Amino acid sequence: MKKFVYEYKTKVYFGQGAAKEHLEEAVSAYGNRVMLAYGGGSIKKNGIYEELRLILEHTGKTVIDFSGIMSNPTYKKVQEGANLAKKEKIDFILAVGGGSVIDCCKIIAAQAKTEKDLWEMEMIQHQYPTDVIPMGAVVTASGTGAEMNGGAVITNEEKQIKTGMIAEPPRFAILDPDYTMSVPHMQVISGAFDTLSHAMETYFGNSDQDNVSDDVALAIMRNTVVNMRRLINNIDDIEARGNLMWDSAMAENGILKVGRVTDFQAHQIEHQLGAFTDCNHGQGLAVIHPAYYRHIVKDAKEKFNRFAKEVFHADTAEKGVEALTDFIKECKLPTKMKELKSKVEITPEILSKVAQTCNVIPCNPRELSRDEIYDILMECM
Ligand code: NZQ
Ligand code: ZN
Repeated sequence: MKKFVYEYKTKVYFGQGAAKEHLEEAVSAYGNRVMLAYGGGSIKKNGIYEELRLILEHTGKTVIDFSGIMSNPTYKKVQEGANLAKKEKIDFILAVGGGSVIDCCKIIAAQAKTEKDLWEMEMIQHQYPTDVIPMGAVVTASGTGAEMNGGAVITNEEKQIKTGMIAEPPRFAILDPDYTMSVPHMQVISGAFDTLSHAMETYFGNSDQDNVSDDVALAIMRNTVVNMRRLINNIDDIEARGNLMWDSAMAENGILKVGRVTDFQAHQIEHQLGAFTDCNHGQGLAVIHPAYYRHIVKDAKEKFNRFAKEVFHADTAEKGVEALTDFIKECKLPTKMKELKSKVEITPEILSKVAQTCNVIPCNPRELSRDEIYDILMECM
């Protein structure tokens, strides 16, 4: 194990009715002016907006809406939110949505407290925010685990970069499986695949073979696969939704990552694919993972053997990768670039730009060359 300091900063309220039961208490410690931030309007259709707004108003808060946070949130949207937060003297931000809303709010919370350009501060000066507007998250679509960490994935459209920024984690997260029941089928499944990917990407980073996080990661993978299969049979299975909601938080709350290195090369490739195409994150990962793993399976044979056996009951490393590929098909997730919804046609030129601009992870399990990343992407065409 490598050295680490670990602290859980996010208080979690899990279960049906969690907002009704706990939101009042959760926001009581913070100031009066609350920014209620959300996406394209799903929370207005399913009644979540109304329910939360009434609770906030009942506790005497002044509620200021910030809406229209898009999937793959942009840095421009962050600036819009930060300007509003400054103008309205916001004391607390309540992010209501999936990973996109939660991530956008994490960076709004930090940008609103500084006159410096946060992108420049983080990417060039390598300085990270310490002063933020406190925020909480109400998860309405699970998968990213954004509600329990301090990372935020933001798209800088001008620079054509989608990458992780660092801020503070939410002070609390409300996880009510009921709130996810209106999420479209494909988003439910692609979100859950993102969770599976997080556990795989952590597991395939180098670690001592008896590192406990490998055991936990494999358990999360198994549980995610089991519950995704339950949802394939019955998308309205609320127990399975709840199980996946907690898998999602567990995979990205940091517990798997302490004391070890991680891989996350598939994520780095997908994020840049997203920068050029605006594709759905979980779907992009579903396309990339099998091709990537076919390239590295021989470099981490023992780990892939264990993955094959314990997650998919397959008896060799290679069969494990094929079982993952079959599982992606079983979930009816995209398997080729052409199946992704993209704002531009995905051409070899675009894929070359992705390969040239994505982050390359130094050694886990093996450092890829940009040519090989291009090959991997082309195999997904
Ligand atoms: O915008 P609305 O109208 O709310 O619709 C959303 C959106 O279209 C819809 N939705 C959410 N809750 C709903 C609902 N529709 C009906 N009923 C509900 N209850 O779902 C759609 C997708 O939402 P989005 O937040 O974009 O999805 P997701 O949670 O997958 O988040 C993706 C973003 O998170 C980043 C991704 O890169 C991407 O930008 N990630 C963040 C991570 C983190 N901070 O730890 C880790 C991940 O690896 C990931 O990179
Ligand atoms: Zn992800």
